[in-house]
Amino acid sequence: MPRWTRRDLVKAAVATSAAVIGNRTLPAEATPSSSPTHQASQPAAPPTIDNTLRENLLMDFGWRFHLGNACDPVKDFNFGKTAIIGTFAKSGDSGGATGSHFDDSAWSQINLPHDWAVDLPFVLDNTLVWTGGKPLGRAYPETSIGWYRKPFAIPASDLGKRIRIRFDGIRRNAQVFINGQYLGQDPSGYAPYEYDVTDFINYGGDNVLCLRVDATLSEGWFYEGAGIYRHVWLTKTAPVHIASWGNYVQSSLRSGITGPASLRITSEIENATGQPADCTVHASILDPNGEIVATVRSKSATIAAAANSIVEMQATVTHPELWSIETPHLYRLVATVLLNGKPVDQDSTTFGIRTTRFDKDEGFFMNDKPVKIKGTCNHQDHAGVGAALPDRLQYYRVELLKGMGANAYRTSHNAPTPELLDACDRLGMLVMDETREFSSSPQALEELESMVKRDRNHPSIILWSIANEEPQQGTERGARMGRSMMEALNRLDTTRPVTAAMNHSWGKGISGVVDVQGFNYNLPDIDAFHKSFPDQPTVGSETASTVSTRGIYANDPKRGYVAAYDTEKPRWAETAEDWWKFYDQREWLSGGFVWTGFDYRGEPTPYHLPCISSHFGLMDTCGFPKDNYFYYHTWWRTEPALHLFPHWNWSGKEGQLIEVWCYSNQQSVELFLNGKSLGSQTVEKNGHLVWKVNYAPGTIEARASSNGKVTLVEKRETTGPAAKIQLQPDRTKISADGEDVSVINVTITDAQGRIVPLADNKVTFTLTGEGKIIGVGNGDPSSYEADHATARSAFNGLCMCIVQASKTAGPITIQASSSNLESSNVTIESAAATPRPKI
Ligand code: GAL
Repeated sequence: MPRWTRRDLVKAAVATSAAVIGNRTLPAEATPSSSPTHQASQPAAPPTIDNTLRENLLMDFGWRFHLGNACDPVKDFNFGKTAIIGTFAKSGDSGGATGSHFDDSAWSQINLPHDWAVDLPFVLDNTLVWTGGKPLGRAYPETSIGWYRKPFAIPASDLGKRIRIRFDGIRRNAQVFINGQYLGQDPSGYAPYEYDVTDFINYGGDNVLCLRVDATLSEGWFYEGAGIYRHVWLTKTAPVHIASWGNYVQSSLRSGITGPASLRITSEIENATGQPADCTVHASILDPNGEIVATVRSKSATIAAAANSIVEMQATVTHPELWSIETPHLYRLVATVLLNGKPVDQDSTTFGIRTTRFDKDEGFFMNDKPVKIKGTCNHQDHAGVGAALPDRLQYYRVELLKGMGANAYRTSHNAPTPELLDACDRLGMLVMDETREFSSSPQALEELESMVKRDRNHPSIILWSIANEEPQQGTERGARMGRSMMEALNRLDTTRPVTAAMNHSWGKGISGVVDVQGFNYNLPDIDAFHKSFPDQPTVGSETASTVSTRGIYANDPKRGYVAAYDTEKPRWAETAEDWWKFYDQREWLSGGFVWTGFDYRGEPTPYHLPCISSHFGLMDTCGFPKDNYFYYHTWWRTEPALHLFPHWNWSGKEGQLIEVWCYSNQQSVELFLNGKSLGSQTVEKNGHLVWKVNYAPGTIEARASSNGKVTLVEKRETTGPAAKIQLQPDRTKISADGEDVSVINVTITDAQGRIVPLADNKVTFTLTGEGKIIGVGNGDPSSYEADHATARSAFNGLCMCIVQASKTAGPITIQASSSNLESSNVTIESAAATPRPKI
């Protein structure tokens, strides 16, 4: 199988079903509790984890990179220069930079994940502003092609194994070569691709993987990055092995949420030999503490030569610990393939046991409890690194969203990075998993199927989405496409409903195809739909789109800033308060997903230049909260909350009226200016309070009360000038694995340690020790400062830098300095860690 085709993704037939159920706690070395009905011999149980059976090697380190050229073959390493030299005329030598002997010593040395768009200069051209101001596209042939080369050695002893290389995501259109041999072309910027390279390897010698990545065309209307921005993996297995994403666990609870769980386990076995293979699969289920709670062995199955078969097993977990937002318990399936009774391959996957249900009248339920979806939509880029996020940043972002009170994440508008789903599984965040292309073309179906097959074990995923605001969504043709997509999807997973994010034509086209009706905006149409189609469950697939810039309180089109009160929105959008009040009042609406949790590059609505990133986020591109974040924090969380804004540095506006807002979930709030009460106001559920205050320097103070007692106090003070730098790392202990990061948030304060709200001092970072700075940012939507740098100006008092550990343990000290400010430093401990196996 040179790479997946649609057939490969769905072809395997169920070869055998039903075996033995085991459900007791066993020590790791214990024998299985199974007694198969059809079994020639009784081999001893394989060890639970046997790392010798397959190797999963991270292929992220030691790459070379160079820009090519989309128009000029000479600047594209002569690739395709003549029909005779190279390309696809003869097998094994595709010319250009693809071959083993090409000298790449002058190319840049890089590690993955990598996004070359981050290093391109900003081009201030209104045609580029929607995609983040970077020169990618037909008009920029010299910066739209990227070449990658990765040397690696495979020992002679691997001859006879199957070797596969998987790309988790490349933006985009990658032509892939190994040792000069053309492997194929992967058009999608978001789908994973895999190649079986067994035949092309030099065993006992050097090999080179080469990619020509073409980021000329876009799939989105937003920043998408450029290059190999997700992980690459090389896997070595026996010829008879578990296929990629071949393990699938479906769980159901037998008698309500306190009862035992039945597991239906399927393992897809691939027989890459020329003879039929007699296999059994041994499955162990490990509970969240790593204890074996069930073992089962399948019936023996004969897998035909060069074929795939699905082996099915059933198991029981007697006392399951359910996965939920609050208790994200994860189980693990370890599946071992035995060929003629001897273990030959092993693969494992995490999964969760939980029930979900979308009800037409009562909304969404998890484990039989109603859960209002308090979600955010997000793109995948972050300050400092573009689309190339180290895994830890996925966790950082999910933690920030959870901290706000969000419980759900929509992967708009594409299949996500697998590590984002891992973060959601581990931290307890529901996911609406969305494919990029709404179509039933072979390529679009292949992308959809690879997403579903890859992601279906993640308990966090509660909904699949097949479309976002598609022009054909309300048509009969759209319905036909949608039906084919649903059929393809349901061949792989029937445990979750499917939705489509529609912005008109509800009740028509794909409305009648999907299980759950998605609404993008348009509050007035939602009640009308529910009245006409009361039997269809509903979700707010996209809501709000309120725009704001962190720390700005008056619109400033010239500089590209939008006031951070909850008032600014484009034509189709809603304020935070409008949409949430509406959804919160309707039990039948399952909840919704705010556009967006974080600002992202591109799409700078309501402006064009000078902005290069969006204003939709509840947090900016660095993850610094805007005031709207606190609206949700107040009403989505349950603990007492109080947030007061704006800042109180309005020099020159003395005597002028300033709008002062408060978010609080307490009964009332009283506001004071320099100790004098400006009156108390009663809080309305899901609302906000406003005072118009004549500005005088000093202090505004909000006192929130409930049941006659002051419960919370917040104040904003007129600060002195910027005097100091304060550093706040998100973690002070990280792993010396060459991948882990700490995010160092920087605050500019006055002499008394109070944040200076308009400070824009340029901060220089100096790192000593076992790490490096991989990016800086400040959340300014109109900043053209470089991400890959060691200095950054503060924006409204804040900036940040991201520090990555090397593979050597030791302290990492970051010193931050700026002229006229007291400098500061912080030390991160990078502790010895076993790096992931790599090649
Ligand atoms: C929606 C669209 C999103 C984003 C948003 C901005 O229509 O689905 O991708 O563009 O508008 O408000």
